[in-house]
Amino acid sequence: MKNSIQRLLDNNKAWVKTELQKDPHFFDELANSQNPEFLWIGCSDSRVPANQITGTKPGDVFVHRNIANMVVHSDMNMLSVLSYAVEVLKVKHIIVCGHYGCGGVMAAMGNQQFGLIDNWLRHIKDVYRYHHTELDAIKDKDQRARRFVELNVVEQVNDLGKTSIVQNAWKKKQPLNLHGWVYDVKDGIIKDLDVTFSSTKDLHAVYHLEKQ
Ligand code: CO
Repeated sequence: MKNSIQRLLDNNKAWVKTELQKDPHFFDELANSQNPEFLWIGCSDSRVPANQITGTKPGDVFVHRNIANMVVHSDMNMLSVLSYAVEVLKVKHIIVCGHYGCGGVMAAMGNQQFGLIDNWLRHIKDVYRYHHTELDAIKDKDQRARRFVELNVVEQVNDLGKTSIVQNAWKKKQPLNLHGWVYDVKDGIIKDLDVTFSSTKDLHAVYHLEKQ
């Protein structure tokens, strides 16, 4: 019996064969360059694969994933991805996609220690504190967790807008829209939270950054 890791490599060969049967030139263009229209910032959760749930192909979506789809402005990894996506690839849309049932968000709602990851979860706890009046008023724990997931996405969209990378693109009139979505692991449906940001006007004035 084949082990599980060998199964992945076999699947890969089968996938290549299928794609080439559909289109013999499938890899030709992809080998030379990528021209994705979207940057996806999603959770690392194995149940939320960006391409599969949006019906997109290799080359369509530039992807960054971390625990609870966070936009942490001191995270060099996120900033590097964002910078490359906006300044070089010139993506037109950035989607922050959270998901209901997110373990990171649920852990941030509780008080248990988990070790090193507590430092990451603290960014999510800050979101709870900003919105504690609304969240504390929701008595049902599951409903509160679902709303917390949504508010976390809204805050991460805000955090994208606060970056000089995004604001400088807007100043140059580069088309760039920020979106907040939530995927439901129970039925596979993505909910658009309608928090579209497309200029600095959509941000609180204190975050506006002017160049010297
Ligand atoms: Co998650």
